[in-house]
Amino acid sequence: MTDEQFFLRSKVIIEPLVDRFIAQPHTVAPVQASMNLAFLHVPLLESYLQSPQVHVAASNNPELRGGYFINIPEERAEEVRDLLATIKRDRADMLRFAEAIAAGQELLRANATGFDLTPLYPKLPPELGGLVELAYDTDNQAQMRFMEPLVYKSDAYTEARQSVQLSFETGIERPFILSTPRLTSPDVLELDIPFRHEGLAELFKTRVRPTTLNHLRDVLGLDDVQAKRLSGMLSTKPSLAPDRHIEAGGRIRYFGHACLVLQTPQAAIVTDPFISADSTAGDRYTLDDLPDFIDLVLITHGHQDHIVFETLLQLQGRIGAIVVPRYSRGNLADPSIALMLKNQGFPVIEVDDFDEVEFPGGKVTATPFLGEHCDLDIRAKSTYWAELAGKKIFIGADSSGIDPLLYRYVKGHLGKADYAFLGMECDGAPLTWLYQALLTIPVTKKMSNSRKLSGSNAEQAAAIMTELGASEAYVYAMGEEDWLGHVMATTYTEDTYQIKQIEEFMTWCADRDIKAGHLFKQQEWRW
Ligand SMILES: [Fe+2]
Ligand SMILES: [Fe+2]
Repeated sequence: MTDEQFFLRSKVIIEPLVDRFIAQPHTVAPVQASMNLAFLHVPLLESYLQSPQVHVAASNNPELRGGYFINIPEERAEEVRDLLATIKRDRADMLRFAEAIAAGQELLRANATGFDLTPLYPKLPPELGGLVELAYDTDNQAQMRFMEPLVYKSDAYTEARQSVQLSFETGIERPFILSTPRLTSPDVLELDIPFRHEGLAELFKTRVRPTTLNHLRDVLGLDDVQAKRLSGMLSTKPSLAPDRHIEAGGRIRYFGHACLVLQTPQAAIVTDPFISADSTAGDRYTLDDLPDFIDLVLITHGHQDHIVFETLLQLQGRIGAIVVPRYSRGNLADPSIALMLKNQGFPVIEVDDFDEVEFPGGKVTATPFLGEHCDLDIRAKSTYWAELAGKKIFIGADSSGIDPLLYRYVKGHLGKADYAFLGMECDGAPLTWLYQALLTIPVTKKMSNSRKLSGSNAEQAAAIMTELGASEAYVYAMGEEDWLGHVMATTYTEDTYQIKQIEEFMTWCADRDIKAGHLFKQQEWRW
């Protein structure tokens, strides 16, 4: 029976880990990962060990949802203590690198007064040697510019941090990814391999093309116990949806949050992939509904709900290229999405505003993305304009309408859109929620709360529509689907400001005979 052919079962999920925390852009890109490890995760683990009960209670308090608390029962505190000790021992290089960045910033604050920066180089901490350039902007504000490709080659980046956990989607919400590390569990197959390991691509390709258990065992390097575990995750029958491809025309499907699948008979595009594996839930498209081959994945920006490694890894081996926005080349707040994904083994195309990427029968144009990053100088963000099967589709993600004239330029360059997909998370989390570990001088709570991760409110969404002149408008990327809780931690009710703003925008569209919708769970457009 060794040559029996197997498919991966529909409900298998993967959780990619770095030092047992869930992989997301700020724990993978080495500059930001070092800062987050030193100034967020180590203090968080220390705080938990001082009073585990407080963390568990806070994790279960709905008012504190999405806060930085570790949801691990006190009886497992020793495992958390071991994790902290391992991090301090094995990641000493990263922790020193983070301290060096903070010291370098302090050096600049104290000494970069508009005069020659050359004398400061020998005073930089040795960990930064060869990895940064010092430069003023034209207002004499000095910054360190990180040579990020070199940092990936330095001691601050190691794939030894990476591992993966394979398990089944249970339908029960998983712990919040930004704060709770994943310990070992009897229900989970642990593999101590990096994300770019060729065995993972081989494994996930078996969603569409079967292979033998022996092949997977060899390529993943499994022992007998692991191979037995894996065999329980395989099936001789595929679980693919029969209507995952189309024969004619065009189709868009909303898979939840910011994930859209755009298809023609010749090609498929997926935006910000974040896809449920819960194939029995019946209220959503899942991994089973994806086309076998995806020509382009479009990534809009680096927030953890738009770069979702648990979904991206499931697509390894089935993607033509991932299109990502260009970064600022060295700003501490702005990791390169291209470098981050290339280093995990993905094929990447980096684009700037109005760059075009062709695919069979169509074209994607990168368009500007405004705001939603707490006024930090983050450039690695893009909206997209897709043309396929005679339709023009604007993929707006979380881009805001702070300055709606921007969208007039988009229309001037590309014409009128048939469909506009707009994010309206208009009361996002404050600056410190996501960027705390990168801020080397403290900000006040008032300052942090004034700088939120916010997309458009009703007035701004209306202004975007006025300038863009799209025929139909759909609000998406709101994190409302219940299967996203471990990443989004949102709590909306019908009285929540964002929901009220969406209703106001729907009314605005109705008054102007613009077809509009507030997307939830699943939807399909066919032409
Ligand atoms: Fe965002
Ligand atoms: Fe988002």
